[in-house]
Amino acid sequence: MTSLWLDRTDTFTSDPFTPGESFDTVVVGAGLTGLTTALLLARSGQDVLVLEARGLGAVATGNTTAKVTLLQGTVLSALRQQYPQKVVDAYVSGNREGQAWLLRYLEQRGVPFQLRDAYTYATTTQGTEAVRAELVAALSADLEVDYVRDAGLPFPVRGAVRLRGQAQINPMDVLTSLAEDVRSHGGRIVTGVRVRNVTGAGPSTIHVDRGSVQADSVVLATGSPILNRGLYFAKLKPNRSYAAALELTGDATPPEGMYLSVEQPVRSLRDYPADGRNLLLVGGNGHPVGKAHSEQAHLEDVLSWARQHFPVAAVTHTWSAQDYQATNLMPFFGKFPRGRGRIFFATGYNKWGMTNAVAASLGIAADILGGHLPWANTIHRRVTSPPGAASAVTLNAGVAATLAKDWGRLKKLPPADGAVPAEGTGTVALRDRKPVATSTVNGTTCSLSAVCTHLGGILHWNDNEKSWDCPLHGSRFSSDGQVLEGPATRDLPPAG
Ligand SMILES: Cc1cc2nc3c(=O)[nH]c(=O)nc-3n(C[C@H](O)[C@H](O)[C@H](O)COP(=O)(O)OP(=O)(O)OC[C@H]3O[C@@H](n4cnc5c(N)ncnc54)[C@H](O)[C@@H]3O)c2cc1C
Ligand code: FES
Repeated sequence: MTSLWLDRTDTFTSDPFTPGESFDTVVVGAGLTGLTTALLLARSGQDVLVLEARGLGAVATGNTTAKVTLLQGTVLSALRQQYPQKVVDAYVSGNREGQAWLLRYLEQRGVPFQLRDAYTYATTTQGTEAVRAELVAALSADLEVDYVRDAGLPFPVRGAVRLRGQAQINPMDVLTSLAEDVRSHGGRIVTGVRVRNVTGAGPSTIHVDRGSVQADSVVLATGSPILNRGLYFAKLKPNRSYAAALELTGDATPPEGMYLSVEQPVRSLRDYPADGRNLLLVGGNGHPVGKAHSEQAHLEDVLSWARQHFPVAAVTHTWSAQDYQATNLMPFFGKFPRGRGRIFFATGYNKWGMTNAVAASLGIAADILGGHLPWANTIHRRVTSPPGAASAVTLNAGVAATLAKDWGRLKKLPPADGAVPAEGTGTVALRDRKPVATSTVNGTTCSLSAVCTHLGGILHWNDNEKSWDCPLHGSRFSSDGQVLEGPATRDLPPAG
């Protein structure tokens, strides 16, 4: 499924990869974090190489809903429950700077974006309590929010918190512009090359299948980090959700703001005016990666909700994607453990990366170039909040339990009987006591190891994306075994 944003006619041509070269900084990943960081460094005169496993924006950034807002659902009230006000203020300052940097950059480069009011809304009495808590947290963080009863939606709303003058973008327009700009400042971008490992630090060697390169600094802008040290994969909850672009009938127009519900399943709305039409984007139905009974059913639920509330003429695009929530709710960015201060990473944006990715990039660039950002220092200095630490422990216990349960489940798996799965389906079965994942996609049947190459989770068939997804830390593999995303760096081997 191709998102509205990735459905473009322009194509990106990779720079050549030359093994043995050395750079000031190698950035791994060409999403919003990677390309913003690369541009900040290249502009300051650094020799920068970006290595991207797939294509620009292929993972989260090209599959987002791309609201660039400081009102982020109920994030501020959730943070306030865990942190002192000054840490929440630092989070808001970082996001404010990220938003301002991005919008200024888009204005300078002539990349279109739209200003919109952002709303967090409730449709139930219980939901209004969450909305009011967010109002209080946002006011305490100096955001000029107000409480409204009419949010301009075509269904009853009990109350909403509103922040005026936020923005929405086409994220692929943004990445395309950043990539051109990185190149115009001498940086290089190589796509279709997966980093398998990084060894050493200051300088580091970055290993890909075609050889290796060296760099004084390395930035892991890969979503979940691809190195296991620091166990960040276990401090992140991978969450997948669904989106669709819809044409409305006749003169019907999308609501004027950007919206997120407090109730579950979450409903997200925005419009996208382009090419003489105004599409309505709907999203939501998030769930932990690899744990849905049917991903297809989640997408259908989003579509059926949309049809219930809007006059839908056509569904132009549907897609799904995942992002990572830090167990302590605060994005991680900065120096990676045991990297001698020369390996950096950024993740855990909790589906608010349009501002957080830019904030993290500003923070990392300041670390590399010797700058000073007070809000970044406050976020770095925070001790893991007690509820966050407890939740990391629970999550780890949960991961261990899931691993044990998964492997316990092995005994219950049916023996492989050689049957070919129906088109678009996948099954896990035991062959010689080993779990084997077999699927048929576009008429091709593949039998692979069903054991995740990261740390051994038993894979789950995603019936929407036709992929093998790991319930442990969110790695995903195509039906022919290639890594798609997550902390895994090695493809699935064929079933032995
Ligand atoms: C459905 C959905 C809706 C969202 N809506 C919003 C929103 O409205 N507003 C908002 O602020 N945020 C939103 N977000 C969050 C936002 O999209 C993400 O936080 C942000 O795009 C993350 O950017 P990134 O650059 O860190 O990661 P990515 O865009 O995922 O980039 C990481 C890149 O690293 C590459 N990579 C990974 N491993 C390797 C390797 N080993 N070698 C080389 N390359 C590698 C990947 O291929 C990928 O291109 C949403 C997220 C989702 C999933
Ligand atoms: S992603 Fe860690 S075990 Fe699969």
